[in-house]
Amino acid sequence: MNKKILDSKGSAVNYVSDLLIDAIKNNPSIVLGLATGSTFEDVYAEMARQIKNDKIDLSNVITFNLDEYVDLDKKHQNQSYVYYMNEHFFKWTNINRTNTHFPTDYEDDVALGKEFPEYDEKISIAGKIDIQILGIGRNGHIGFNEPGSSLNSITRCVKLTPSTIQANSRFFDSANDVPKLSVTMGISTIAKLTNKIILVVFGEEKREALQKLLDAKSYDANWPCTILYDYPDLTIVTDFKI
Ligand code: F6R
Repeated sequence: MNKKILDSKGSAVNYVSDLLIDAIKNNPSIVLGLATGSTFEDVYAEMARQIKNDKIDLSNVITFNLDEYVDLDKKHQNQSYVYYMNEHFFKWTNINRTNTHFPTDYEDDVALGKEFPEYDEKISIAGKIDIQILGIGRNGHIGFNEPGSSLNSITRCVKLTPSTIQANSRFFDSANDVPKLSVTMGISTIAKLTNKIILVVFGEEKREALQKLLDAKSYDANWPCTILYDYPDLTIVTDFKI
């Protein structure tokens, strides 16, 4: 486990964006696992700036997003993670949209508990994710794998916990407008189908979750982030001392 404790959010953002840009330059057909949320807004903005300045070609880059809401009402379509990725990143690049994937690409029949092995298979066929970026929830979720997620879970439709709905209500008019369901890569998807993980933890309110990971000796389903305790190539980037 490699820990990068940066002294400000700005330097942490630069660290993560430089790492991803260098990886793209070294491997123009890289497979990236992408996350959304406020943690990554500045990372994508900095990447977009460098991509424009240095005319970096993303036409062969392949991406798989971690998660997506289910049943967003019409009024809140701009809270979808497809929309987020377009606005914050894709539209500033020449990425080929057919190379970008979301776990709701198979949306015709989404219901709580439904699994989407097609998504995991697609990641396998792409040769696994070279670098996966992850944020973390205050309750230790990664992707939308909430407390209680099984070690063997694959991409599936899950229920968001009241704490996640409350945390994400800042993007909506009220907590009532936050979707109750999402489709997320599973714990096993993240553990087995990625080669390198960059976990980005901004803000003291995430300290407890991060500490559970740092102290873990095995997977604790109450804190899904603990799946990373023995992950072979994990870099943790924080903007606070740990
Ligand atoms: C988003 C995701 C979530 C977020 C987490 C932190 O794709 O998978 O796990 O990374 O909820 O969100 P922010 O960055 O908004 O604090």
